[in-house]
Parts: sequence; C-alpha cells; structure tokens
Amino acid sequence: MIKKALLCSSVLLSLLACTETKKTDYSVSSPESKNTIEFKLLDGMPSYAVKHGEKEVLTPSKMGFVFKDNDSLASNFEIVTAETNEVDNTWDQVWGEKHTIRNHYNQLTIHLQEKAETKRKLDIEFRAFDDGIAFRYIFPEQEIKDSIFIMNELTEFNLKDDGNSWWIPAYKSNRYEHLFTKTKVSEIDTVHTPYTIKSDNGLYLSFHEADLKNFASYTVAKKEGTHLDLDLMPWHDGVKVRTTKSFQTPWRTLQIGEKPGDLIESYLVLNLNEPNKLDDLSYIESYKYTGMWWGMHISKYSFWEGPNHGASTKNCLEYIDETNELGIHHMLIEGWNKGWTPAWYENKMHEFSFTEPTDDFDYNTVVDYANKKGVKIIGYHETGSNIINYKKQIDAGMQLYKDLGIHDVKIGQVGDKLNMIEWHGSQFGVEYYRWVLEKAAQYQLTVNFHEPIKDTGERRTYPNMMAREGARGQEYNAWSEGNPPSHTALLPFTRMLAGPMDFTPGVLDIMETKGYNNRRINTTASKQLALYVVLYSPIQMLADLPENYIGNPAFQFLVDVPTDWENTKVLDAEIGEYITTVRKDLKSDDWYLGSITNEKERNIEVDLSFLGEGSYEAQMYTDGETTDINSDPSNVTITNKEVTASDKLNVRLGAGGGAAIRFKKL
Ligand code: NOJ
Repeated sequence: MIKKALLCSSVLLSLLACTETKKTDYSVSSPESKNTIEFKLLDGMPSYAVKHGEKEVLTPSKMGFVFKDNDSLASNFEIVTAETNEVDNTWDQVWGEKHTIRNHYNQLTIHLQEKAETKRKLDIEFRAFDDGIAFRYIFPEQEIKDSIFIMNELTEFNLKDDGNSWWIPAYKSNRYEHLFTKTKVSEIDTVHTPYTIKSDNGLYLSFHEADLKNFASYTVAKKEGTHLDLDLMPWHDGVKVRTTKSFQTPWRTLQIGEKPGDLIESYLVLNLNEPNKLDDLSYIESYKYTGMWWGMHISKYSFWEGPNHGASTKNCLEYIDETNELGIHHMLIEGWNKGWTPAWYENKMHEFSFTEPTDDFDYNTVVDYANKKGVKIIGYHETGSNIINYKKQIDAGMQLYKDLGIHDVKIGQVGDKLNMIEWHGSQFGVEYYRWVLEKAAQYQLTVNFHEPIKDTGERRTYPNMMAREGARGQEYNAWSEGNPPSHTALLPFTRMLAGPMDFTPGVLDIMETKGYNNRRINTTASKQLALYVVLYSPIQMLADLPENYIGNPAFQFLVDVPTDWENTKVLDAEIGEYITTVRKDLKSDDWYLGSITNEKERNIEVDLSFLGEGSYEAQMYTDGETTDINSDPSNVTITNKEVTASDKLNVRLGAGGGAAIRFKKL
C-alpha cells in the first residue's frame, strides 16, 4: 500500500491505475481537446478509437501482433498501469519549410501484461495532438528465449465513414512511382502511405508513419467496407520483421484536418522523430542546382560512354560555365562512372563502379574548374538496386567524394526490388537506407535518395537527409506518357506529407522538349515556377538545359526563390484541383507565392493579409491572357505591382497552369 501511495504521488506523471479494481478503458485528448483517443480492453484484446470533437473518426480498432508459429500477442491482456503526461516545447529545423516548430501533445501510456502463463508485456504509447493522433507499440525486454519473428501486426483502422481517397498501389513494379487513383475508401487496393482521405464527415485525414527504423514499413489494406488493416511489407520469405529480445514499432500516425491545407501545415510526423543526432552540421546547406541530367532523360546525351556521352569532361566544363553564368552554385553530374549500359535500368544486378570514371571524364579537372567558378559538384551513386555491389564499394565511393571536397550525393536505387529480392519498403530496405544515411554523415555527405523508401521524417534526426524522390517526378515527362496536370495538384496532399521531394521542376521550354517520341510536358512555364513554392524541398533542381534559362526573363524568379523558409501557409486548396501556398523567406522579409491548377482554368483571388506591415513589390510571373497547356505554354507574363496586406490580387491560372509571385519588401 505504501508503495502504491508513493507511486500515486508522482509529480511528473499522473498515474491513473491506482485503484483496486482494474480499469479497462482510458482516454486522452489533445491540448485543445480537438482529438481524443479512447483505449479499451475488449475481453482482454487491446483496441483504440479516435474522435475529432464529437465526430467519430475511427471506431474501436484492434491492436496486437502474431509471431512465428501462429503465436498471437493480441488477447488475454490486463492493464498493469497507465499514465498520462503533457509535453509542450519548440525546436528549430536546421533547414525547412517552417523554422520553429511547436511540439505539443498529451500522451497516454498503457502497460499491458498477458494473464496467461507466458505473462508477456506490451506497452502502447498514444499521443493526442491537435492536428492528429499517433501511437506505437513497445515490446520491452523480457524473458524471451528465441529471436522474434513478427508475422503480422494486427492494427486495424476502422473508419467510421467512407470518403474520397487518393492512393498509389503497393507491391507493384516501379516502387512509389505511380499516378494517383481516386476511389472511395471502401474501394481501395492495398496502398502506400501517406494515404489521404476527404471523409464524408467533412474531415481531411492522412494515414502515415513516423520514425521508421529497424522495422518494416506499412501499407494499408482493405478489410471490409471502410475497415482497413495495417499491412507490413514482408521480407522475401514472408516474415515481416526479424528482431531479438525487444522491439518498438514506428509511430502509426493519423493527421486530421478541417481544411485540406491543415494536413500540409501539420508537423506531427516530424515531431514524432527524434531530435538531431548529428554533431557536425558544417557541411549541410540547402541549395538550388543545375545538372548533367535532363539532357540524358530527353536523349540529348547518354548516361553511358559513347559519342553522345553526357558526363564527359568537356561537357561538364561547359556546364560549369553555364551554371556560373546563371548565378547558381551547385551542379549535379550523373553518368560519370563505369558500369552504365544502354540497358542499365533493367531489373538485373548491374555492377556500377563507384570510383572508376569513364575514359572521357576526369574528376580532378572538373572539380578544380568548378571550384574556380564558385560551383560545388554534387556526386552521384546509381546502385541499380544491386546493394551487394554497393555495400562493397560504398566506403571507397564516399571517400573519393570526401577527398574531392564534395559534400552532397544523390543515390539511386533503380530496380523493382533491392538485390532483386526485397521490397524497397521491407525491413531490409528500411535498414539499408538508414545505414547509407549514417555512413554518408561519417563522410560529411548530404543525401538525396532516388528510388527511396518512403520518408517518415528522418530529416529531423539526420538533417543530412535532404530530399528524396518516391513519386513520379519530372523525369516521367521526358520518357513516359507524362504526368497529367492534376498530378502536381495531388502531390502536396499525398507524397509531400511524408517530406521534401526532389521533383526536379523548372523545365521552361515546354513545346520544344523532346523525349523519345516528341513528348511534351502538360504544364505551363509559370506553373513550373510555382512548383518551387508549392512542392517543398531544401534542394531544388533547375532541371532544364542551361540554354533554356540563359537570357530568359522568367529565370529571375528561379534565381530569387529561396530554399529555406521561416514559415509556410496554405491559403486555399482542394485536393487534386488547385493549391495556393505562401512561404516567408528565412533570411529576408520577402514572401513567395505559388499557385497551381489541374486541367481547369481558374481565376483566383488572393487575400494578402499574410504579408507584414508596409509595402511590397509583387513581382508576378503568370500565364498570359490566353496561355494554357495547349496554347503558348512557355509564355510567362511578368508584371510588377505595389501592394500591402490590405490588398487582394486577382490572378488567372490557365488550364494546367500556375502563377509564381515574389513579394519583395520595399
Ligand atoms: C532515376 C532517377 O530518378 C533519375 O533522377 C536518374 O537520373 C536516373 N534514375 C539514373 O540513375
């Protein structure tokens, strides 16, 4: 009894389990009581439900696991103790879309124990934020003789209501690079997260996860109607997660908003990652970059050696000159190394070298010249998903960059499966990407992963994790049927909720862009400019050929637009239709606006009350009066106007078009 009394008087935690009769249900609400999580043991089975105000979002949904040999850890539990606590603090991003972030939530921790002989323990931590909820399981170290093989996680997401949702399919070739499908929740396939829903109850929801490490990533599978299952991506032998002694799952997150923009202005996923672990941040900077890249995708150059090889010393020196002329200070070089063939992208164990240059490329000459011209070279490692080959060479490859003074590397994993056997999103993939990131930090390298595993907010813990692909980017406009205009109006509410994307915007030469079959981009040039504001990334490529920028007045916007922001607001949006985003520069009083539309022409009215006091010059880059994707798409009309916070601006977005505005403080 004395022990119990002491426990109950704890100042830090309010312990709720101090009664003789065991309680079976607890709840926790977010600081402003917007969201509530209700935990219940139903006949010994853990379950949770979620409400937004009085609206039921998730009805009781089961929790638990199945281990090897059908050994279930999901029933016959009792609650040993439960505690709640409140956390309210702020932290600064090393770079980001918002500099200072508030982390404010109430936590409920439930300590469970099986009543059966096994007496295994399982803790569940719930966090209620005003912008959503999260929970994770912790299987503490205990008497377990064998390794643990998780065969299934039984978490359910039982949505109360149906709704429209946007998704990409899981377990398909091309990883996360698909066009989004819009269906009712009750009609989905097995889908990747972030999985975003406009619920019939009026709320905007997005399922995802945070702090994914030492575990498999999850996809969402349909069970029945609007009842969904969490589905862990397996190893090739069907085991979902292999571990020893204990484990902790990533946070299972559900962002909840009343408007579409609430999902974008939510930092819940980042807040659920651990604080920065890197001591040395000296080499980490956000930047814009040109690259020996688009030319290869539109077949002007080849990745491989031959008469058209892109990354020859000669071509790179010219590119450095042009990058310097444009006033840009970073430049990517792909295809500089041995191992590229015309069939490099096939699902085979291609053997790239990470140290041996092609016969026509000399790194020292290129880097020395770049240094003289104030241009920093970005390195490139294409693994072709042959991880065995990469692991053997990664130290030598990264050491080469270190010796050359290179601090940024793009790392590609083209291939349907890693080592042709494991899904990118499997536990194998999760561990591989984290290992590469930690290794890169040892060599003072920032990373831009292509063909990555989905982002879950790692950049908070490892700010050398800059951006990644993980969706259909600009490259699809060079060699596929292209991305429809709605694609970029969907990305902010889906893929981008996970974190920064290296979309590689900025192709301004719209009509003349030729891929293998005279393909063109379904965009206007003004929309390409707007993407630098709408699609956040701390590294933004200026993807077009330098000759399409030199002397182009619209390029001024790309010189001016920052990559590091003090604040971000979504002024107005409808998922997949249009979005208007404004961001405040971190280093000045200037604001920038990007607005894009899908296939529909729109006239938008922008309320400028987000601006600070005083006057601004609005430097507007817009679709001309008749510009749209089919009519003079490269035309950008540039106008200037003095405005204040009490003004409203009317802007026309041509079909498939957009507008970019710099508000320069006067
Ligand atoms: C696909 C990447 O997304 C692209 O950026 C890169 O140029 C090619 N792979 C070659 O590695």
